[in-house]
Amino acid sequence: MTADTLSLPIDIQQTTSPRVQDVDFTNLVFGRNISDHMFVAEYRDGQWQQLRIVPYGDLSLSPATAALHYGQAIFEGMKAYKNEDNEVLLFRPHDNWKRFNRSAERMCMPTVPEEVFMNGLTELMRLDAEWVPCAPGCSLYIRPYMFAADAYLGVRPSESYLFVIFTSPVGTYYANPLKVKVETDYIRAAAGGVGAAKCAGNYAASLYPARLAQQAGYDQLIWTDARDHVFVEESGTMNVMFMLDGKLVTPAVSDTILDGITRKSIVEIARHWGISVEERKVSIREVIEALKEGRLQAAFGAGTAVVVSPFSVIAYEGVDYHLPAVEEDSFVTKVKNYLTDLRTGKIADTFGWVL
Ligand code: COI
Repeated sequence: MTADTLSLPIDIQQTTSPRVQDVDFTNLVFGRNISDHMFVAEYRDGQWQQLRIVPYGDLSLSPATAALHYGQAIFEGMKAYKNEDNEVLLFRPHDNWKRFNRSAERMCMPTVPEEVFMNGLTELMRLDAEWVPCAPGCSLYIRPYMFAADAYLGVRPSESYLFVIFTSPVGTYYANPLKVKVETDYIRAAAGGVGAAKCAGNYAASLYPARLAQQAGYDQLIWTDARDHVFVEESGTMNVMFMLDGKLVTPAVSDTILDGITRKSIVEIARHWGISVEERKVSIREVIEALKEGRLQAAFGAGTAVVVSPFSVIAYEGVDYHLPAVEEDSFVTKVKNYLTDLRTGKIADTFGWVL
């Protein structure tokens, strides 16, 4: 289907002043450059309408816009890569679409039809293909998001929404292995809450505890469970994984843990390689004991932005525990390279993840 034969057609207005030539693709800082176009769809009167691609630019909003007051806002993060033939490849975009709609349901927002999400994305990729970087470690970060658009101050689910996709060429998120502190005062998510949703407020709430950790010399936090601070949940904005006794061990997804697409890809790749995988509760004591006894080969964060980000230090109860350096033949390096090779079409995609 082309953009003008869709049941919900996309009106396309191309930019007359492309900016791609102005971008220094040799020095891509995460989040700094935004590509030429954005996709916008409006939800009004119970339906999606006004689908359009326009030059990237400011949105005009009422100061009373509900999302700005009550945080009814969700987003996704995904990446596009280029293969050797200069074709744009997307990694598991339907998984992002499905998770987006799970977040929408939890936040009492309308779901976005597959056609709107996928066709908006595909058309945007077609128009801004030149923005997809080719250099190793670089990609086009894609940010779909939706927010409550009613200009109304009462607390209620909005009746109107804006769904937007824009993109940004990015390099490495974290340059070095992370020093992470186990957080036992503040929490990220509680049972019955919104931890599994990719909603804006989860990220806002994490900023203050993360800043305290950064002031104490750490890069990020390991979040623990809200009730007893006994079990590991996530790290910063990433899922958290351990190579423990030669097994891949990671907290099982729940209503406090995001169903990460990088996380589940790593789990599937590890199983495919014959590595034993345990998705279960992981106590911080178990991790520290294994570390002390030399049974913890690696600990790392996994997410779209970072892909795989190893930890060099885990701080717990005032003690810094150092992890072994990441070797070339370690699981962490191998799985990161394998994911990159899959996403850039260098190896055959036997999983059916790359579109
Ligand atoms: C992602 O990995 O896409 C995230 O959600 C992190 C982002 C907030 C930078």
